[in-house]
Amino acid sequence: MTLSTWTIARIARLGPATARSVSVERDLPVTMTDGTVLLADRWFADGGDTGAPVVIVRTPYGRTQTDVIARLLAERGHTVVVQSCRGTFGSGGEFIPFFDEEQDGADLLTWLEAQSWATGEWLLFGVSYLGLTAWAMKRRSPRAIGAMALAVTSTDFRRAVIWPSGRFGLSNGISWRYGLRHQELTGIHLRRAQLLETRTIRAATRDGYAQDADIRAFGEPDQPYRSWLAHDDRDPWWDRIDFDGEGDSVPPLLQVAGWYDLFLDAQVDDYIRIRDAGRPVRLVIGPWVHGSLGLFTNALRETVELFTGARDRSDARIWFGGVRRWVNMPAYPPRNAPTRWSLGADGSLTQSGSEMPEGAAGERELPDDGSPAPAVGGRTLFRADAGRKDQRAREKRPDVLTYTTAPIEHDIAIAGWPTAQLAVAGSDGRPWFVRLCDVSPTGGSSNVCDGTVPASDDRDLRDEESGERRTVDIRLSPTAHVFRRGHRIRLQVSNDASPTYARVDAAARPRLVFSDTDGASGVDMPLVALRRGRRPSPTAGPR
Ligand code: BEZ
Repeated sequence: MTLSTWTIARIARLGPATARSVSVERDLPVTMTDGTVLLADRWFADGGDTGAPVVIVRTPYGRTQTDVIARLLAERGHTVVVQSCRGTFGSGGEFIPFFDEEQDGADLLTWLEAQSWATGEWLLFGVSYLGLTAWAMKRRSPRAIGAMALAVTSTDFRRAVIWPSGRFGLSNGISWRYGLRHQELTGIHLRRAQLLETRTIRAATRDGYAQDADIRAFGEPDQPYRSWLAHDDRDPWWDRIDFDGEGDSVPPLLQVAGWYDLFLDAQVDDYIRIRDAGRPVRLVIGPWVHGSLGLFTNALRETVELFTGARDRSDARIWFGGVRRWVNMPAYPPRNAPTRWSLGADGSLTQSGSEMPEGAAGERELPDDGSPAPAVGGRTLFRADAGRKDQRAREKRPDVLTYTTAPIEHDIAIAGWPTAQLAVAGSDGRPWFVRLCDVSPTGGSSNVCDGTVPASDDRDLRDEESGERRTVDIRLSPTAHVFRRGHRIRLQVSNDASPTYARVDAAARPRLVFSDTDGASGVDMPLVALRRGRRPSPTAGPR
């Protein structure tokens, strides 16, 4: 045990180590079917074969980045093999994100099967891109995998990262490429790149346009970025790296997610699909952005529990924002009752069944302010923009419309996906973005969850309906939140949330149209009953 594994084991509240010392063999060469040699490290407990399954990790970020995790697992009896993806940290070939992981993963497994120290049972561990390499390996060899422990990742990076909700993920794309392009620098050069990161990404994405953002960031075209932009989310080019496959072939699975992580939406969809296929899957969602310390320590503890304990657990551990509380439940979301709040032209947000205020009917126009409305928080890889943020400056902009309730008289708990319907006219191919916020009694507004739809869907509809009023449906990201008594609920509506989503040009000013009949534009919220000290229980209505 080292000081760092001892400290992390305490912070993460891991069970006790079973081995006092571990060894590592570095730079083991593994030859792929095309002759390329990839390097791997093997960690194992000293003192003989423990018989425990081998944990496999495949990473493009450098094997030493996972040293602590590998050592912690080896201290608990596992042999851990960490391989560098091709083209990274000494592995041969070129790193072309996504496309080689299935074959290279299968080749690693073939090599492992021939090793005398391998037990023949494999466990996969992966955070983010390492999770993609795990899904890729599982697709080729589903029956050989004993369990998978994954965090902030998805079977479908096209949908989760590059084209989230069908819009180009500008800050995800540039941030990820920035990290990858600089990660093998050393010393002062690495430090300089790290210091310049936020400023460079901010400058490259300031106008919100995806075109040439790579040249603005890196001074030259970046080939992977260009490929992603050239193939939109409907392009079959991506199909080969959609690893969702058959839900019923998924081994016992742990999914750790963050409410403010870019993978949230796609990861919860993975969870639902696998759970509905009847496979054991545990879901943990905390108040985290990509890379939060809490995410790391919780993922570690849950991974050790999965790998060393019961594998057939199917349940959920969910953090409720607003009351800052963990709640255990059999499945997420708990049964809930979608309840509608209507938007009014006077900026009101009124629960269905209540009387609409005078002035609620009418129209509001959404001007184009020249610069795109900034994202200010939410789900992105770009750390400067990610998470829960003060929304007041965003809400002052003319191109961000807000709709707010009166102070609420009792706590309102929601869990699941809010959905918004906007009755719009003359929107001329613009995308839409809506965000649900919690407004404190002192006026502070913070983002709870949000969702967007792309311009292209808008165009299809416009063609069909010749610019007439029509309804845009938007699914917000999943959430679990309690709006406390005295707080207000707010919905923001804008076209842009930049640079999380790339900007598109559109000619006309969209109008939001309201009518005096309740519900022309509104948001359906998945209400649950949350009792103090108890798990959320179903209210009436469908799940
Ligand atoms: C990651 O490994 O952290 C990552 C990879 C691709 C996109 C976003 C994040």
